[in-house]
Amino acid sequence: MAYLVAANWKMNKTIAQTIDYLDIFTELVKDIQKVDIMISPSFTALSSASLKVEKTNIKLGAQNMYYETVGAFTGEISPIMLKELNVEYVILGHSERRHIFGEKDNLINKKVQSALENGIRPILCVGETLEERELGKTLNVVEKQIKSGLAGVYMDMPFIDIAYEPVWAIGTGINATPEQAEEVHRFIRSLINELSKGNDSKTRILYGGSVNEKNARELISQKHIDGFLVGTASLDPNRFYKIITEC
Ligand code: G3H
Repeated sequence: MAYLVAANWKMNKTIAQTIDYLDIFTELVKDIQKVDIMISPSFTALSSASLKVEKTNIKLGAQNMYYETVGAFTGEISPIMLKELNVEYVILGHSERRHIFGEKDNLINKKVQSALENGIRPILCVGETLEERELGKTLNVVEKQIKSGLAGVYMDMPFIDIAYEPVWAIGTGINATPEQAEEVHRFIRSLINELSKGNDSKTRILYGGSVNEKNARELISQKHIDGFLVGTASLDPNRFYKIITEC
């Protein structure tokens, strides 16, 4: 199983900035084979990015999608629209979707099911708030988010990746220590192994939350960390490339 190192650009970069980035980044990573690389630009830049990454080793991801394929859903993006742009991954249940936009496990589960039905690989994001960690609820929260988010699709585990992103570590410059991350990743591995009846060997468990070129090596050296979901540090092609080379 190759590591997956994925960029979540969030609401950053125009089309022109995306093209400039990819001009540099495609060159930097062109010889990397042992790590799967994914970038997820804004929806408006996906089409241009799709053309730029064609015939490269960079895969395209979306930061969200709706679960219906077509219809009266103002402002939403459908899985078939993403497929048309050669999008292979979709980030679902990101903490910002949950906390800023109020997405609940039930909605996230519908999106996961739809992504799978439409041949897009979901990356289900889970993670506890600082308050939940301090109350000792981290593993309970993560377990609930995984069981609810993946309800009905446990047997599709080979087509799913998971990102553990503690909310308190996202965009704060305070990453989980390798030991803190490893504890949760080990728990997630054991949980998905049980839920899928042992069919989880193709599922990567990514860590996300203030990953940078300085802490990547120590984090990835943990046995149950299979890659990263990177926000801030992925906005610079040289920093993101450095993180990839640490894996
Ligand atoms: O999806 C990415 C995460 O939210 C991490 O963001 O690397 O800026 O902490 P960050």
